[in-house]
Parts: sequence; C-alpha cells; structure tokens
Amino acid sequence: MKKIGVLTSGGDAPGMNAAVRAVARAGISKGMEVVGIQRGYVGLLNEEYVNMTARYVSGIIQRGGTCLYTARCPEFRNMEGVKKGKAVCDKLGIEGLVVIGGDGSFRGAGDLSSIGVPCVGIPGTIDNDIQCTEYTIGYDTAMNTCIEMIDKLRDTAQSHDRCSVVEVMGRKAGFIAVNVAIAVGAEAVITLERDYDLDAIAARMVKTMNAKEGKHHFIIVVAEGVGQTDVIAREIQDKTGIESRVTVLGHVQRGGSPTLRDRVLATEMGYHAVELLEQGIGNRIVGLKDGKVYDIDIQEGLAMKKPFLDHRYDIFYDTAY
Ligand code: ADP
Ligand code: F6P
Repeated sequence: MKKIGVLTSGGDAPGMNAAVRAVARAGISKGMEVVGIQRGYVGLLNEEYVNMTARYVSGIIQRGGTCLYTARCPEFRNMEGVKKGKAVCDKLGIEGLVVIGGDGSFRGAGDLSSIGVPCVGIPGTIDNDIQCTEYTIGYDTAMNTCIEMIDKLRDTAQSHDRCSVVEVMGRKAGFIAVNVAIAVGAEAVITLERDYDLDAIAARMVKTMNAKEGKHHFIIVVAEGVGQTDVIAREIQDKTGIESRVTVLGHVQRGGSPTLRDRVLATEMGYHAVELLEQGIGNRIVGLKDGKVYDIDIQEGLAMKKPFLDHRYDIFYDTAY
C-alpha cells in the first residue's frame, strides 16, 4: 500500500497517542503516506484529516488523550454510513486503515473491510473488555491512576474510621475493579461477573471491627456496571453502623501520561498493524496472546468470549482480611 489512514474511535485511552505515533512512523519509514483522520468515523465521513509527517507525532508518546481526537458516530452503524466512508477513502486514495478503539469501532472496521477498505484494529480502551486480546491499550495506566487515587482515599478513611466505597470504570466489565482491589488492599470488591452478598460483606466488616486487633476503616471497590454505588454504600452503613462515603473516580481514569506498558505495547501493536497493511492484509484485530502481539480475523475475534479473572478474584477474597 502507498497510502494508509489512522483514526481513534470511541472512548479515549492513555497510550492511543503512542499507537498513532507508531503507525505514522512505521508507515513513513516503509515509504507510505500516512493520513491522520480526526474524530474517528465522524471525521472520516466529514473528510477531516491531516497528512502526517514524522514530526507531526513528535512529543506525543508521553501524552494521554488522542492527538487525532475521538468521537462516536451513529451514522457508521449502518451500511449507508460505511459506504460513504469507503467513498471518502477512495477519494483520498487511502488504501488501508488502522482503527484504534474498542469492539464497537472494530465492528465498523469489519464492515469497511467487507466492502473493500482493508482495516486493522488496535485495541484501545481502559476497560480491557475486548474478547480476543489479553490486553487493551490504556488499561495499565487507568489502573495505576485508580490506585494512586484510592491510596489517598485510604488516608482519610483511616483517619475518620470510615468506609470508602469507590466506583471504578469498566463499562460492563470488572477487570479494572478486581486488579485495583488487590493493589489497594481493599476489603471487598463488587463486580457483575460474580455474585455478591452485602450481608456477607457487612458481616465480615463487623467481625473485624469487634476483634481485638481488627480493622476500623474499609475500602470497597465497585465496578461501574453494577450500578447504584450510592445504594450499596447506604446499605453497608445501615448494616455495619460505620459511616460510608462514595467516591466515583470517573473520567480521571481515562487521562494522564501512559505507563511504560501502555507506551511499549501501543508501539508494538501499531507497528504490527502497519506490517499487515504493508502486505495488503486487512480485516484483522491486533491483540496480545500468551504475552505476544498477534492478529486475528475481526469477526472471529469479536465472537470470542473473554474469561474473567476468577482465580485472581478468589486470591483477593482470601487475602482481604
Ligand atoms: P468502542 O469502540 O470503544 O466500543 P463505541 O461502541 O462507542 O466504542 O463505538 C465507537 C464507534 O464505532 C461508534 O460510534 C460507531 O461509529 C462505530 N460502531 C459501533 N458499533 C458499530 C456497529 N455495530 N457497526 C458499525 N460501526 C459501529
Ligand atoms: O470504554 C471506556 C469507558 O471509560 C468505560 O469505562 C465507561 O463506561 C465509558 O467509557 C464512559 O464513556 P463516556 O465517558 O465517553 O461516555
């Protein structure tokens, strides 16, 4: 291919810039022209783009967010929108496209591939909820942000003998919650993937509060998909008598400078995506399998089921008290 495009789509994630940089630099070093499409599929349909030079991506590897901006594009969910996207690619001479985003973005990339624009997806989301990859760009940074914030909450919860109920992101997935709960030494974690029992959580808290060398402050991590974090906090307070406060970490988890893991994997994945397009191969998702970068057919990848961190969840439970 002589000319390829790159875009970021869906929720932003720290490390997306590192992936954009890798695609641009790898493409340029292989003699290609690289077009940066702004605001995801919205920008594709509106022909919002920049011709990327190696210098255009200088100084972004350490920055959160995405220099290409990102958006959600309802129009791209139907084939009319996708055909319009192909027409823009044809007009601009874009022969292949790298799509950095989540599974929704990959569905769009699959549709575009099916009508003749080979696309390669790179997993960029803090949630780590993409079926066919062990890792998604942004996950590590987001979890590190969570532990930094919750360590601070621990200080004040301890000083006031309170229970801090902290909601972390992850849409419907509890991957962030379980890892973060282990890393901050939380007393309970609540996710959608495993049943939870507020009576049992409260009973454990009361038992330790009444023990001679027990605990008098608590951290409970709740995955956002569970919903009603405020109701959970109120029930814990009613059942235990300990003052319980809610903190929703929210979008702070999506920002900030990416960790080494996110920068390096984003670079490896971006490079791999360009290698595929160089060979004329599209309709692939780049992912991590057994710790190595690999690629898989988009539809096959989207149809997979991701195992939950069951063993880690059990380890958490047995080391929480
Ligand atoms: P993510 O990629 O992070 O999962 P979204 O689900 O919001 O984020 O999807 C991002 C964009 O991908 C959507 O705004 C839309 O343009 C496109 N998209 C989502 N679902 C589909 C689909 N089923 N078919 C085609 N395009 C889709
Ligand atoms: O997919 C990333 C994510 O941050 C989820 O964890 C969260 O549910 C969602 O995006 C929030 O999306 P937004 O803030 O863009 O509405």
